[in-house]
Parts: sequence; C-alpha cells; structure tokens
Amino acid sequence: MRHLLSTRDLSRDTAIGLLDVAEDMADTQLREVKKLPTLRGKTVVNLFFEDSTRTRISFEAAAKRLSADVINFSAKGSSVSKGESLKDTAQTLQAMGADAVVIRHPASGAPQTLATSGWIDAGILNAGDGTHEHPTQALLDAYTIRKRVHGAASRGKDLDGLAVTIVGDVLHSRVARSNVWLLTTLGATVSIVSPPTLVPVNTSGWPVTVGYDLDEAIAAEPDVIIMLRIQAERMRNAFFPNSREYSRRWGLDDGRLHQLRATTIVMHPGPMNRGLEISAAAADSPQSTVREQVANGVSVRMAALYLLLSGDREDA
Ligand code: CP
Repeated sequence: MRHLLSTRDLSRDTAIGLLDVAEDMADTQLREVKKLPTLRGKTVVNLFFEDSTRTRISFEAAAKRLSADVINFSAKGSSVSKGESLKDTAQTLQAMGADAVVIRHPASGAPQTLATSGWIDAGILNAGDGTHEHPTQALLDAYTIRKRVHGAASRGKDLDGLAVTIVGDVLHSRVARSNVWLLTTLGATVSIVSPPTLVPVNTSGWPVTVGYDLDEAIAAEPDVIIMLRIQAERMRNAFFPNSREYSRRWGLDDGRLHQLRATTIVMHPGPMNRGLEISAAAADSPQSTVREQVANGVSVRMAALYLLLSGDREDA
C-alpha cells in the first residue's frame, strides 16, 4: 500500500487484510508489549490544518508504539498562518526526511493533492479532508463492529448480512462517506437517516437507502446504529432544524435507546454533542462502543502505518 486516501479505493481483501493486521497489533498490546521495533528510523509527520483530539493523538500513539519518530505540526502557530502554501509546507517536510505524512485539512482532496503532486515522496494518510473522507475512522468502525459481532474469531471475516443505519448530518460528514463505501465493500447493508436538509444533493451513486424518519429506521431493527455529530462549524446555507427539533426527531434519546434491540451496537465517531444527537444514557450504555472505537483506533492506525512504511510500498 503506497497511500491511504479513501475507503472507496479499498478492495474487500485489502480492507480485511488491514483489519487482520490491526488485530495482530491489538494482540501485542494485550501481551503488554509496549513498543515494537518495526518502524525504528522512520519519521511520521502529523500535519493538522484542522482541530483533532482522537485522530491526532491515536496516530501519534500508533507511530510511537511502532518506534517511529513523530513530528506534530499544527497549522495554528506555524508559517501557514503567514500564508505559506501546502506545496511549500510539503517540501519543508520532504527536506526534513518525512517517511509518512498524516494530513487533516479543511479542503476535500488535499491528501490526494499531496499524494499525486510530486512535492513529497512520503506515504500519505488521510486523517480527514473537508467533507470528503476519513478512512481510518471507517476502518476503526469496521474493526469495532467485526470484533463485537465475531469476537475472538473475527480474523478474515467481513460484515456480510449486517444492517447498519447512519443517522444525522450526512451532508458534512466525511465519516459517513468513508463508512458508506467501506461497510458496503465488507458486505453490510447501509441506510442513512437525516433531516432532508442534511442529505447530500447527489446520493444517486451511493450504495445506500435514504430515509428521514428515525423511529421507522429503529423499528427495522438495525444491527448497528452510527450517530453522527452535528457539525455546526460547517453549517452555511443548510437549514439546520433548531436543537430541540433536531434532538426530538433525529436524536438517539433515552426513549429511542430502549426501542433498540439489546444487541444493537450504538456508535459515534466523536466528539459527541451530548443531549443533541445522542443522550448521555445512550453514549454510556453497554450497547455503546464509543470508548472501544477510540481504543481500537490505535491498533488500526498502527496497521495502516505498518502497511505503508514496512516493506515495498506498492500503489494501492
Ligand atoms: N473522530 C474524529 O475524527 O475525532 P477528532 O476530530 O477528535 O480527531
């Protein structure tokens, strides 16, 4: 694998292979092997042009657990605020010997630009670009679902036959897009449920059904329900139902939590707006995998860095 830019590009075999390597990485953590020597001498740069807690910290933890050197770069406080371009920033990182660049950027397509521009020779990992994709989030979500469903026997397995409902602000969600592609590649049936104003205009090529009624979706007894964050910072012209209306019609509140089957997995990528898209009781219930998702993110990102930086880097 040369870069990890999107889940739309991933084949079923590549995705399952990555999840299996993530299981191997998780096993080393269970055996309390704090550090693997695998990426000693490699340099990973975390290049974040947007805020992040989970993704940035878990990429840093993943790189360090593989013994790579890590450089954290945040656009705030850097020469980007003086107007330095992405090209000059990339060439600075090239001069510093970066082997991998983990990039989060508000512009959809920025990681693809870095990967194809020739400005830098490093492997590029997309940590979230605009409203386009967030592939490692979808991979850790798939890993978490697979682990809950198949337990210790999950290696080599896909998500065939599972029904996944993604709820909320799909319009602005790169997590939703990456999950739509990856989960369907892995055999799940995906539906999205949103206010009509928060569904992207053109979902005709998406392998999903679109609905607007959360209670109807819950009555269909999904295996997994993924609640999305309302991205207030990205709302421009979209009509946003006010918070009370949104929560009443599209929030996973305590009443809806009790309507779900006891086996339905409740997911959220974080950060959560508690009381808006998800109640505290739902977020903290035994059905919720919110904390598991964060923990699994480290293993998944270790796997991604390992596959990019060890051995031959082939075009993916
Ligand atoms: N899920 C996610 O991407 O969280 P952060 O924005 O905190 O990285």
